[in-house]
Amino acid sequence: MKVVRSPRQLQRILEEERLRKRTVGFVPTMGALHEGHLSLVKAADRENDITVVSIFVNPTQFGPGEDYAKYPRVLGADKRLLGKGKVDYLFCPSVRDIYPPGHATCVTVDGAMARVLCGKFRPGHFQGVATVVAKLLNIVGPCRLYLGAKDYQQAAIIRRFVEDLNMNARVRVMPTVREKDGLAMSSRNRYLGPAERRRALALSRALFELRRDILGKKGTLAFLKARAVRKLKDAVDRVQYFEIVDPVTLAPLKMVRREMVALTACFVGKTRLIDNVIISLR
Ligand code: PAF
Repeated sequence: MKVVRSPRQLQRILEEERLRKRTVGFVPTMGALHEGHLSLVKAADRENDITVVSIFVNPTQFGPGEDYAKYPRVLGADKRLLGKGKVDYLFCPSVRDIYPPGHATCVTVDGAMARVLCGKFRPGHFQGVATVVAKLLNIVGPCRLYLGAKDYQQAAIIRRFVEDLNMNARVRVMPTVREKDGLAMSSRNRYLGPAERRRALALSRALFELRRDILGKKGTLAFLKARAVRKLKDAVDRVQYFEIVDPVTLAPLKMVRREMVALTACFVGKTRLIDNVIISLR
């Protein structure tokens, strides 16, 4: 695994790889890696000749009072975990490499899909994500881009701008990886104390139960959603949102459809956790 810090150098290296007809799989991350990231690396390795992983804690996607300063930066441990997969290039730019003085251009995904769910509570977050991912894609060049389904809204928004801006990337969204007890893997799980870790299980439980009962026709969408929210409220400190939406537009649904996604964001202690399940009646 070759570590590259400069955007120009990575661009040059990958241009040469493509001249040799090698396909590129790209996994963007903010580090603090876990098995979920590793599943993306493995998929990239299976489907491409070259695998590139980036680690960059992107300041523009954190709002005031969010965890940018304390976001875990553990490059040594990340490199060891990546050693379990087959990574050709690890791209670790500095903030100055990505946002040099005078940087003034942003990517904004307009429309309802960026204003609901996390977008409603984290203004500017998806503009930060879209801007950095567009920049990373321009540095990496034509590739398959690997994202995790745990960040469902992020993946939907990235799909949207990749299509809207005719970017040369094929977006591949891979299933959420969970701990044995159901907790969705997340870099932020490491903020949880033991008692909080137990309470955090309420998210996946509520979502799985909702899916089971929708599939089993156990009540209306409104009834089952209200019950899920009630149970979550008993376990977590704050339910920021719990919605059942259209998988593509992310518009909230009032009636059962063949394809739906249920998503939630909750605070357990000071830690904000998100999770979702896809509900398919096919
Ligand atoms: O999901 C993440 O880790 C980040 O939002 C991403 C896609 C790497 C952009 O900074």
